[in-house]
Amino acid sequence: PTTSIRSLLAGDVPLGSTVTIEGWIRTRRDSKAGLSFLQVNDGSGFDPIQVVAEASLPNYQEQVAHLTTGCAVAVEGKLVPSQGKGQSVEVKAHRVEVVGRVDDPDTYPVSAKRHTFEYLRTVAHLRPRTNTFGAVARVRHALSMAVHSYFHDHGFFWIHTPIITASDAEGAGAMFRVSTLDLANPPRLEGGGIDSSADFFGRPSYLTVSGQLNVEAYCLALSKVYTFGPTFRAENSNTTRHLAEFWMIEPEIAFADLDDDADLAEDFLKSILRTLLDERGDDMAFFADRIDKDCVRRVESFVESSFERMDYGDAIKTLEAAIDRGKRFEFPVSWGADLQSEHERYLTEEHVGRPVVVMNYPKEIKAFYMRLNDDGRTVAAMDVLAPGIGEIIGGSQREERLDVLDARLDESSLDRDAYSWYRDLRRYGTVPHAGFGLGFERTIQYVTGMANIRDVIPFPRTPGNADF
Ligand code: 4AD
Ligand code: MG
Repeated sequence: PTTSIRSLLAGDVPLGSTVTIEGWIRTRRDSKAGLSFLQVNDGSGFDPIQVVAEASLPNYQEQVAHLTTGCAVAVEGKLVPSQGKGQSVEVKAHRVEVVGRVDDPDTYPVSAKRHTFEYLRTVAHLRPRTNTFGAVARVRHALSMAVHSYFHDHGFFWIHTPIITASDAEGAGAMFRVSTLDLANPPRLEGGGIDSSADFFGRPSYLTVSGQLNVEAYCLALSKVYTFGPTFRAENSNTTRHLAEFWMIEPEIAFADLDDDADLAEDFLKSILRTLLDERGDDMAFFADRIDKDCVRRVESFVESSFERMDYGDAIKTLEAAIDRGKRFEFPVSWGADLQSEHERYLTEEHVGRPVVVMNYPKEIKAFYMRLNDDGRTVAAMDVLAPGIGEIIGGSQREERLDVLDARLDESSLDRDAYSWYRDLRRYGTVPHAGFGLGFERTIQYVTGMANIRDVIPFPRTPGNADF
């Protein structure tokens, strides 16, 4: 049986045991005494283990002495205390089997030297073998599991909402259309080009922008639910915080209002980040060392802090006061305007110094499903802003009154018939309910300090990029 390198380094296996490991060579260094030190990593954790391969191995001259970065090996040997610096144990090899060679080491795309992230995006299929992308993958996993554990432990049910849908959940019109294109025999336009507008079996359908509308249906039956899956936005935005395909976590709670929603967001976020610190200390230490020296401290203080809750109106007043004191923003500030990320960052970083929940936005800048407040001009919306990144959560109490919802659909020029099933939920046993969406990649950026959202998802989808 194979042992994971992480468990060997963690001291789970007694010294002197015979162990087998399998992984990829990070580096090979030869000593003058005629032996090789192989750094082998299997992705189970951040650190490689050192394998000492002596020249007396039968395949030493022919194979071991030629191993290069990226070669796959299986090693059997004895776990012994290490003389070297930086590691407590190493494997003294009895057998080194070369499982997969690197054909031409000079062209191996991810050599042991440091590469830029821009370059690594062009070899997205091999970048998981680098320190950074291995660490990102493990952090993604740990956070995903923490999300499911949190909800499971709090009595929520995970609902698998559809990817293909006819409903525009945000009413914002930024959807990818799904077509039933037969690639072997594509419909042709007059000029001879491919007609890609064919509908999903005769009906216009799209990739979902959010699972919210569907998860609301389950909320109004199972009370506490969530969905966690990929969502799609056909915005042509080339920023470091937008993807065309990203993952979203969307809980929805019944018999609940906006304050309950904000309470859930705070407890949930702190809980999953605490789990991350507990489980992935090695990877987080790497991010602090190489990517963003403040990241561990930032997450620790996030977990300890209490979120500041602030009305949108007060946020505008705060920003206006800052402008009066000489602060400059690129975008104008006035009641009714959406907060830009520079404003969000001012509020959370300079004004409060903690996470901020901005509540009760003007209805004109928010989606049709948000509950209209008694003032008639704001809705029960909330955005959670995190220092260093801005909006990570968007949520709201939902409009549960059919007449008010209908008026909002009309105002937003949305077709009531297209939302008939959603309107039904307001006709049959409607209750106050609320939920939110957490952008998973923005969360990973926040905790790791990775600057570009393209580098926290395995295969980023951005305008013009779907090759891998
Ligand atoms: O604010 P948004 O658009 O809210 C919704 O979709 C609601 N239906 C959620 C709900 O109430 N159930 O998106 C929620 C979050 C944002 O705060 C942001 O973190 C992330 O999703 N997000 C994106 N992340 C990456 N790329 C994009 N293009 C994103 N758009 C939104
Ligand atoms: Mg939003």
